[in-house]
Amino acid sequence: MERKGPGMSAYDGKKAVITGGGSGIGFATAKLLVDGGARVVITGRSQDTLDAARERLGENAPAVRGDVASLPDLDALADRVKGELGTVDALFINAGVTVPTPFESTTEEVYDELFAINVKGAFFTVQKLAPLLSPGAGVVLTTSAANVMGLPESSVYSAGKAALRSMARTLSGDLLPRGIRVNAISPGPIDTGILEKTMTAEAAERFKAERVADNPMRRFGTPEEIAGAAAFLAFDATYTAGTELAVDGGATQL
Ligand SMILES: NC(=O)c1ccc[n+]([C@@H]2O[C@H](COP(=O)([O-])OP(=O)(O)OC[C@H]3O[C@@H](n4cnc5c(N)ncnc54)[C@H](OP(=O)(O)O)[C@@H]3O)[C@@H](O)[C@H]2O)c1
Repeated sequence: MERKGPGMSAYDGKKAVITGGGSGIGFATAKLLVDGGARVVITGRSQDTLDAARERLGENAPAVRGDVASLPDLDALADRVKGELGTVDALFINAGVTVPTPFESTTEEVYDELFAINVKGAFFTVQKLAPLLSPGAGVVLTTSAANVMGLPESSVYSAGKAALRSMARTLSGDLLPRGIRVNAISPGPIDTGILEKTMTAEAAERFKAERVADNPMRRFGTPEEIAGAAAFLAFDATYTAGTELAVDGGATQL
């Protein structure tokens, strides 16, 4: 493969942006790419998280603080990315939150928050960074196994992820004329701590035990397993557009 010649690292000279790159799946993907020679802008709302990530990733991972649900923040991100990278070969739309939504008690505020971050944030991140994407660039949207399952108390999160699955197709339609592919990666249960951010420890444990019990592989996936698949879609899947790759232990396939 062209980018893996003798003496070269897998991602030498590549430039990427990973939203939510300070933790979990985004961090694992940033590490894979930076270790392989890429320069990666990571984003997130928490400066502490970004500082800790930056310390582990080194100088090839400039961090930009911002909220993907804020269009002014996305304009500022686009300016910083232009200055840090110039052009972008891979855009990983990974920032997201999950909040349980019991049917009867879910509020408008929670509904709006989930859609503002997971759907609006994803769409406008692609829109604002699109002018910087190089010909042949890959955009990867992070969906979820939940978007094709009927898990209780997940209607709002799952519907938002289903919207992103649709956008992998429609945004490919919009961007392929410029040679830019958009695909989706659909993680199954990955133990990153995301559940504990919005659930009690007890509820998170119960949810995780159920997901392991009903998973064909009877285990969680690792952030590194998602990172490898995301990098494949972004860089190697050069004849693939509009698809969704399930990396979920077979949960949605078997
Ligand atoms: N873990 C799983 O089992 C699983 C399964 C399916 C799909 N996913 C999806 O995978 C993606 C990554 O999740 P993860 O498990 O790696 O959890 P995570 O460690 O919580 O990562 C999410 C990242 O997104 C950032 N983020 C959240 N809201 C943001 C906002 N408004 N603006 C900018 N950044 C924001 C967070 O940083 P700040 O809080 O500092 O902003 C964090 O770094 C999410 O889209 C999630 O829905 C996860």
